[in-house]
Amino acid sequence: MPNSHIPVITIDGPTASGKGTVAHLVAERLGFHMLDSGSLYRLTALQALRRAVPLEDEHGIAKLAEHLQVTFTGGEILLGHENVAHAIRAEEVGNMASKIAALPTVRQALFALQLGFRKAPGLVADGRDMGTVIFPNAQLKIFLTASTQARAERRYKQLIGKGFSANMNDLLADLQARDERDMNRAVAPLAPAADAHIIDSSNMVALEAVDEVLKLWAQVRHKS
Ligand code: DC
Repeated sequence: MPNSHIPVITIDGPTASGKGTVAHLVAERLGFHMLDSGSLYRLTALQALRRAVPLEDEHGIAKLAEHLQVTFTGGEILLGHENVAHAIRAEEVGNMASKIAALPTVRQALFALQLGFRKAPGLVADGRDMGTVIFPNAQLKIFLTASTQARAERRYKQLIGKGFSANMNDLLADLQARDERDMNRAVAPLAPAADAHIIDSSNMVALEAVDEVLKLWAQVRHKS
């Protein structure tokens, strides 16, 4: 691969494990680019919901994925010219994203788009299959996890903070259903890469997990 020398740190893990926050902070500290791969599934889901393309129409949804007109600028996520950074965080969109993520042709359609994010001086990529499928030769792989309870509490605070309504019991049930789907799908299921470092952040604040990742990154740099 022509750009395999460009450093990549992959941060995979279940929903609401804090990987997004940790990945952004690590990217900021290192001056690296950032790929929030979940947002690509969410953008495709948002398009499918808006255009009423049903889950059964795999080809139709893959087409939406293939033609995503997305631009990431600062905190904004532009779909065409519309900033949908807020809209894609709705639970309805997240649930649809988890369902369409099980469709092989959708994953295939987003494959090349994701590889294109590997640019100098480096990339931090967060998702479910960053270390296993998209960047299997990444220089550092992290699997960030946390207990279901801790993740539900985080998601609750996140949603309330963004002005969405939320209910703890519904969130717990939702998280379990989504984990189940993400871990048991046939294509690119959520699982740590064999060479991933597993970090359990149940009792950590984001900055502690960031320090842990940066420590591991310093070790990788030292060895190479
Ligand atoms: O990380 P997130 O919650 O924004 O991701 C939304 C959904 O997209 C999630 O349920 C699983 C899916 N996803 C995936 O299958 N592979 C990825 N690399 C990232 C996300």
